[in-house]
Amino acid sequence: MIPNCLPQGEVYHASEELGKEAHVPSFQKYKELYLKSVDNPEEFWGDIAKEFYWKSKHRGQFLDYNFDVTKGKIYIKCMEGATTNICYNVLDRNVKERKHGDKIAFLWEGNEPGDEMKITYRELLLQVCKFANVLRSQGVKKGDCVSIYMPMIVELVVAMLACARIGAVHSIVFAGFSAESLCERITDSNCALLITADGFYRGDKLINLKLIADEALLKCKEKNLPVKKCIVIKHLCKEEVSWDRSSCSSQSPPTKRVCHSVQQEKLGEKVKKVCPKPQVPWNPDVDLCWHKLMQDASEECDPEWCDSEDPLFVLYTSGSTGKPKGVLHTVGGYLLYTAATFKYVFDYQPDDVYWCTADIGWITGHSYITYGPLANGATSVLFEGLPTYPDVSRLWEIVDKYKVTKFYTAPTAIRLLMKFGSEPVQKYRRKSLKILGTVGEPINPEAWLWYYNIVGEKRCPIVDTFWQTETGGHVMTPLPAATPMKPGSATFPFFGVVPAILNESGEELEGEAEGYLVFKQPWPGVMRTVYGNHQRFETTYFKKFPGYYVTGDGCKRDKDGYYWITGRIDDMLNVSGHLLSTAEVESALVEHSAVAEAAVVSHPHDVKGECLYCFVTLKDGQEYTEALEAGLRKQVREKIGPIATPDYIQNAPGLPKTRSGKIMRRVLRKIARNDKDLGDISTLADPTVIEQLFNSRCVL
Ligand code: PRX
Repeated sequence: MIPNCLPQGEVYHASEELGKEAHVPSFQKYKELYLKSVDNPEEFWGDIAKEFYWKSKHRGQFLDYNFDVTKGKIYIKCMEGATTNICYNVLDRNVKERKHGDKIAFLWEGNEPGDEMKITYRELLLQVCKFANVLRSQGVKKGDCVSIYMPMIVELVVAMLACARIGAVHSIVFAGFSAESLCERITDSNCALLITADGFYRGDKLINLKLIADEALLKCKEKNLPVKKCIVIKHLCKEEVSWDRSSCSSQSPPTKRVCHSVQQEKLGEKVKKVCPKPQVPWNPDVDLCWHKLMQDASEECDPEWCDSEDPLFVLYTSGSTGKPKGVLHTVGGYLLYTAATFKYVFDYQPDDVYWCTADIGWITGHSYITYGPLANGATSVLFEGLPTYPDVSRLWEIVDKYKVTKFYTAPTAIRLLMKFGSEPVQKYRRKSLKILGTVGEPINPEAWLWYYNIVGEKRCPIVDTFWQTETGGHVMTPLPAATPMKPGSATFPFFGVVPAILNESGEELEGEAEGYLVFKQPWPGVMRTVYGNHQRFETTYFKKFPGYYVTGDGCKRDKDGYYWITGRIDDMLNVSGHLLSTAEVESALVEHSAVAEAAVVSHPHDVKGECLYCFVTLKDGQEYTEALEAGLRKQVREKIGPIATPDYIQNAPGLPKTRSGKIMRRVLRKIARNDKDLGDISTLADPTVIEQLFNSRCVL
C-alpha cells in the first residue's frame, strides 16, 4: 500500500539538514516503522507506552476491537485494565521524573500586543493541583462531566487538566458558540458544573462571555436540567481581584500586562486607550469566583488513578441529523496517540518553540495545544488573538518574538493572509521556523505554495495533517523529513492507521482510484463512542460499510500512491475548517416564524473554503424583505454561533423536490453556482421551480 519508489516529478523534499536530527529521517525508515506499527501494534505502541507512567499493567490484548457491525457491538479498547492518570503523565512526570519543572510550558500572548505571560511546568502543575482541589470541594467526582466555556487563556488548560487529574470528564465548548449551543451541549452531557470567564476580546470586539453563559444556564433551567455551580474567572476585570497570575510561585517571571482596550479616544494630540469592561451579572446561588476558590485551595492533590479505558473528555462535533454528537475519547489510547503524533509529525525536539494557532475549543487545541505538546514536555505559544489584529503581520511578529520553530495553522488563515501579499510577512525575519503544518480542510495548491515559498522561504516542509475530532489525532500526514510532499496531498497514513478507498458497493479499490475514505483497523486514539448514544456511533461510522470506520470524506489515490482528501461526501460542510451540518442550519432557519422550509448547500468561498448558501421558502402571507433576511442571519447566529452565519440567503417560493418530496440538494448546489448542467432531473416533481430559482439567484 505504501509505494516502493517515490515520484520524481513535482515533489518537494525537506532539507538534508532537517533529516540529520529527525526522528524519522527517510522514507525508508517511515516504511519500516509503519510496517511494524500495523503488523505488531502491541510492540509498536508498547514501546511508546513505556515512556509514560502506569500504576498497574493492562490485561489481555493491547488493542482489542470489533469494527464489524455484523459481528456484534462495535468496541475499541487500548490497554484495558492498566491504570494511569493523563494529568500525572503530562505534568508531574515532566516535573518530577524528567526534571522539566523550570521549563516553560506556555508562552501566553494576549489579544492585545504586549499582553503576555509565561508559565513553567512546575507552576502549571501547582495551579492544576489547586484547581483540582477546588473541583473536588465542589463535589466533582470521577466520571462526572464538567462543561468549560472559556477564552484562550492559561486557566483553560488548568481547568481541563484539573478535570483529568480527578478523573472527571471535560466537555469544552468553543467560546464562539451561542447560548443555545452551549445549553444543548451542557444538557446532553449532563453537566452540573460550568467553568467560564467574564469576557474577552476578539480583535476589537468585546465578547461578554458571562452574559452568554448566563443565558445558556437559564435555558438549562427551563429544560429542568439546572447547572448547580458556575465558576467564573475574571480575565478582563482582573484588577478587581487580589489574585494575580504572576504570583503563581516566587520563581515566576514578572508578568507584563497592558490595557485590553481597543476603542481609541482622541484627547488633544494624545490617543488614549479606553478599556470597556464586560458586564458580569452575579448570581450568588450559582456563581463562584475562581480567584477566591483558588486562594483557599491546597497545593497538594493526589491524582485519581483511572483505567486506560475510562473517559477523558467529550467534545461535540456536528452530526448529519443536526444534533451534535458528543465524541468520547478515553485516557490511555488518547495519551499514546497524541504524544506519538506530536513527536513524529512535528518532529519534536527539546529546544523547539511550538505554536498551534487553533482554539482549544476544537479538537486541534485539545490534541495539539494541551495533551500532545505537554506529554512531550514541549514549550508552546498559547495565543488569544487573531491573525489580523492589530494588523495582518501579527502571526509573524509573534513567530519572531518567541523564535517559533514549528508552526501549525489552518488553510483558511493562510488564504486570508495571502490576500495581503508577501510584504506583511516579509516585515519579519521568521528565521527560527523549521516546520509548517496545516489542518482542518483541504489546502489548495496555490495556498500551499504561498505558505511554502513566502512564509517558509522554501526551507520548511509542510505537514498537511488530515484527521477528525473522531480520530483523536493525525491519521493521514507527511512526516517532515521523510515524506516527499505534493502540494494539497495529505500523503500517507500515520503509524497504525490502515486506510482504504471504497466504491459505492463497498469494494476496496486498488491503485489509482477515487471513492470513500475508510479505515480498516483502529489506532489507540480513535473515539470510543458517542456520549450517551452508542447506537448513533455504530450507525454513523460503521453501518454503511461493515468492517470499516467510515470517515465521511472523499479521497483520491494517485498513480504514486499519494492520498488526496477531496472533502466531505455527506451532509456536512466545512466553513473555515469548522464542520457544520446542513440540517443544523436548516433547523435554525425554520425556527423563524416567517419560514416554512429551508435547504442549505455548500458554496465555494475563496477564504473560508466553503460557505453557506441557503434557500428559504416563506409561509403564506410573509414578504421577503431586507429586514427579514437580516433577521434570518441573526437567528442562525443566535442558534448556533457566528461561524454558521449564512453568506447567501435566497428567497425560494418553491424548492426542487422529487415526487416523493425529497429536496434535490444536488440541483440546489448547481443553482447556487449558476451551473446549468443539472444532470438527470427526470425525478423532479415540478420542473418550473428551476428556472424561477436561477432567475432569482443571489448576486455573488
Ligand atoms: O473533512 C475533513 C476536514 O475536516 C473534517 C474533520 O473536522 P473536525 O472533526 O472539525 O476536525 C478538524 C480538525 C482535525 C474532516 O472530516 N479535514 C481536516 N483536516 C484536513 C481535512 N480535509 C483535508 N485535509 C486536511 N488536512
